[in-house]
Amino acid sequence: MEHIAEMISKKEELYLRRKKLVPNGLGIFNPSSVQYAHGATMIDADGRELIDFAGGIGVLNAGHCPPPVVKAIQEQAERLIHSSFNVALYEEYLELAEKMIELLPHGDSTKVMFLNSGAEAVENAVKIARQATKRPAIIAFGGGFHGRTMMGMTLTSKVTYKAGCGPFAPEVYRINFPIYRVKEEALSEEEFSENEIQKLKEFFKTYVRSEDVAAIIIELVQGEGGFYVAPKSYIKKLRKLCSETGIMLIFDEVQSGFGRTGKWAAYEHYDTIPDISTWAKSMGSGMPIAAVMGKAHIMDNAGPSTIGGTYAGNPVCCAASLATLKYMEEIDINALGVKVGNIVRARFESFQQKLPLVIGEVRGLGAMLAFELVKDGDYKKPNAELTSKIINTCAERGLVVISAGVHGNVIRILSPLVIEDALLNKGLDILESVIEELA
Ligand SMILES: Cc1ncc(COP(=O)(O)O)c(C=O)c1O
Repeated sequence: MEHIAEMISKKEELYLRRKKLVPNGLGIFNPSSVQYAHGATMIDADGRELIDFAGGIGVLNAGHCPPPVVKAIQEQAERLIHSSFNVALYEEYLELAEKMIELLPHGDSTKVMFLNSGAEAVENAVKIARQATKRPAIIAFGGGFHGRTMMGMTLTSKVTYKAGCGPFAPEVYRINFPIYRVKEEALSEEEFSENEIQKLKEFFKTYVRSEDVAAIIIELVQGEGGFYVAPKSYIKKLRKLCSETGIMLIFDEVQSGFGRTGKWAAYEHYDTIPDISTWAKSMGSGMPIAAVMGKAHIMDNAGPSTIGGTYAGNPVCCAASLATLKYMEEIDINALGVKVGNIVRARFESFQQKLPLVIGEVRGLGAMLAFELVKDGDYKKPNAELTSKIINTCAERGLVVISAGVHGNVIRILSPLVIEDALLNKGLDILESVIEELA
């Protein structure tokens, strides 16, 4: 018995303990472990070096443990860990608010509040939109993901993420995401977008009146849904329709923000400003902080104590986030996003050219990039089995990468944007050789 115990690795031992202690429902997106990390490198429980292409699910755009963020956390923890912003206010919250508004203004006058997670940000955005409009309904999109709280889950489309958890929140309606496949679509992007908007107008006649809709919530680049990018012309038309009908347009930027698409916000690619937006993930380099931003006159509609929470905007998280944003400015995170995006896109397109029957569409924006794994070169035949084999084999070879998509057949890159070119290429080499081997 002792002999067997000596044979298993520390990682295997940790997974056995996990199995005994932690409920099965907590998913395993990658079979790796970590004990410490820096930049885009993780050291696993057995001391093996891993290249991180997952970034803790898009949280580490500024890298693992950026030194100024670590310092800010340490200094803040010595001064003040918690008071609750509602009980005794502190400057760190306000400094972060000023920075967020400076970077992401929503028109002339913007307000922001902080939460602990992306799902909480979505919950609060919905509450604000409902109070601002005095309307009940929310429209979300097929393939969308907005978190695991009850409203977040109701808004989420992927059924395996919500199986058995209902009944869900009422007054949530769903329309198709505007998936425009450049190589397949007969219509121009403009015609396609116009068609989709006409379908939405029809939806207002057949499913829910526009006068009853508080908000439409959309990810401009769907994260968990598989990195579909909404067409620019569609978003411009949607903005116009929302303004005409008094519907709040909410952009969920939880996964797409803070340099991931080569800009602070994906919406900056669209010349469109939302009424309300939600933020989390990379804004705190891993500390639990999220934000709801919006036009001041809209944000102020929420009644006293209908929004917020005990820990929301905790001083240590605010300090970490402020240090993250300043560090991102210093290293020009958006330029890094563009650079990483260019390298990854070129490599993904070359994979696609080499293996057109296995690799479907390559898509994304900036460094928020992904490719599909399919059978017979047909995107209607998703290959989830091959996708999970690739992920597991990459993990054995020292590369941590995760999937996406309602069919589980999309491999996405959410690596730290501070990743060195050599390390990025090394990771892409591992990915390429594993795909070639398994395909
Ligand atoms: C677009 C989007 N919204 C909301 C969430 C939920 O965020 P959290 O997991 O922090 O609750 C996620 C998480 O992946 C997301 O990608």
